[in-house]
Amino acid sequence: MSAALGVVAEGADLRSPTPEMIDQLSELLDRHLVVAIRGQRLTESEHMAVTSALGTPWIHPIDRLRGKASAEPVTVEATSDEPLGTDSWHVDFPYLPSPPSIGILNAIEVPSYGGDTMWLNLQLAYERLPDRIRADLDGVGVNHSIGEFFLDRYAGGDPMLRALWKRVCVGNTHPVVRAHPRTGKPSVYTLDAQAELVGFEGSDPARLMAELVERSTSLNFTCRWRWHEGDVVFYDQAATFHRLIIDPWPGVRRMRRTLVEGQPPTAYEPAIAVSSAKAE
Ligand code: SIN
Repeated sequence: MSAALGVVAEGADLRSPTPEMIDQLSELLDRHLVVAIRGQRLTESEHMAVTSALGTPWIHPIDRLRGKASAEPVTVEATSDEPLGTDSWHVDFPYLPSPPSIGILNAIEVPSYGGDTMWLNLQLAYERLPDRIRADLDGVGVNHSIGEFFLDRYAGGDPMLRALWKRVCVGNTHPVVRAHPRTGKPSVYTLDAQAELVGFEGSDPARLMAELVERSTSLNFTCRWRWHEGDVVFYDQAATFHRLIIDPWPGVRRMRRTLVEGQPPTAYEPAIAVSSAKAE
């Protein structure tokens, strides 16, 4: 899709995924972080079957607490009355103790123009950071908490429900540089300039965050996908953030999305520099 990330795979029919196809897909995802396949008009159950082939379909912990035992796709929809609010860089549910590992979007209805999705390669962003910033981030955590926008959307005005959401979704600290769960590659894991750094001993955390966010969101680290109905895009949620471009609004745009379970993020441990000097 771009020099930074993303690949278009051809020849796959996701209605009947074979183990070989799923292995290839996982390998492509680990290498390119975003994989698009055109022309896949999946039913809900076919979409769920591909999701299950890649891992355990994700259920939100609050839905689990309320007794939900099986995952189902959600519809991500922009209507003529309500545009989507996800037009800034984000990753799905980073404020949970174990955020999802993979997202899978299937385009059900697309506007006649616009409505693209962009992804940002945060492994590349980490690779391009100056050494002094990498050193500052070493061993540092970031306090991830659900934002008010999403709290309102999910819990509304119900005080009990808000308290439950806050208990599960506020104050989870993750490493600001995480190791990829399969490849071990480091990536930046926050783009929230207001988020609190935990364990940073320098004098100006706000400045560090502002510089980190500015450097990490370079357009040079992105790819952009123009949707056609039936497209399926798989995206890694450990090493990419994404955003929607709402330029078609008030056009209608409807996606079906599932997520695959992930593990608690682990910190990247940079290799210790070993001196080449011989012992006396
Ligand atoms: C999302 O932001 O999670 C959905 C992205 C999209 O609909 O393109």
